[in-house]
Amino acid sequence: MGTPVVTPIHDPLIAPASAVQVAVAGSDVQSVGLVHDRPGAVSEIWLDELALGLSEQGWMALDVRARLGSDLLAALQQEVEILDRTDAMQRAGIGRGNDLVRDRSVRRDKIAWLQGITAPQAALFEFFDAIRQGLNQRLFLGLKRFETHYATYHPGDFYKKHLDSFQGRASRVVSLVLYLNEDWQAAHGGALQVFNRDIEYEACGTVLPEAGRMALFMSEEIPHEVLPANRTRYSLACWFRQDEVPLPL
Ligand code: OGA
Ligand code: MN
Repeated sequence: MGTPVVTPIHDPLIAPASAVQVAVAGSDVQSVGLVHDRPGAVSEIWLDELALGLSEQGWMALDVRARLGSDLLAALQQEVEILDRTDAMQRAGIGRGNDLVRDRSVRRDKIAWLQGITAPQAALFEFFDAIRQGLNQRLFLGLKRFETHYATYHPGDFYKKHLDSFQGRASRVVSLVLYLNEDWQAAHGGALQVFNRDIEYEACGTVLPEAGRMALFMSEEIPHEVLPANRTRYSLACWFRQDEVPLPL
């Protein structure tokens, strides 16, 4: 579609020695200077970056491999592969409860909700909760909880352009997608196409679903689409919500 492939923000853990180049939404490049960080930590400075990206552009792509650790990423990859092989993944729908529609012309992925019970899921939940609290402190979003599912796109599967939440429902407020595919090439398709929040039809970035890469965006503002994949594509989606109790979307 001719949009730039977004270079994820270099994680300070990977490039600690020099000024960190931040590429947001494919165009602006800014420097955030020297940062000192601990592996595995969700640091204050990193949370500042997330809050800035969300408030200024409404979305960002970044690399969290060093932050999560390769072992945790590998363990999550293994879980989703097992779930996929054992038929535990359900065909995804649109909407909730009685409104749930399984429209194969809109989305074709399969999903499995995480409970946070296994050790890798518990570690991941800690990471997500630190993000939830960090965003609340900086953006006053009142995020009460999160929900998260694995997703598998088999060759040919896609998810047409959509918003994750409708304005004013106060349900899903911030969306996060973590990718779990080693050596993903552009030729494999399956990219996340992100659209401008103000000019709905203007594509402003493309994120390849490479392992350790994470996309973060405002659920009610950023239209996005999963382009057809021609290799099996594993990911994890998480939504930070303002409501305590799940209500129909
Ligand atoms: C979704 C979604 C994007 C992706 O699950 O709602 O848009 O890149 N996922 O997997
Ligand atoms: Mn979505």
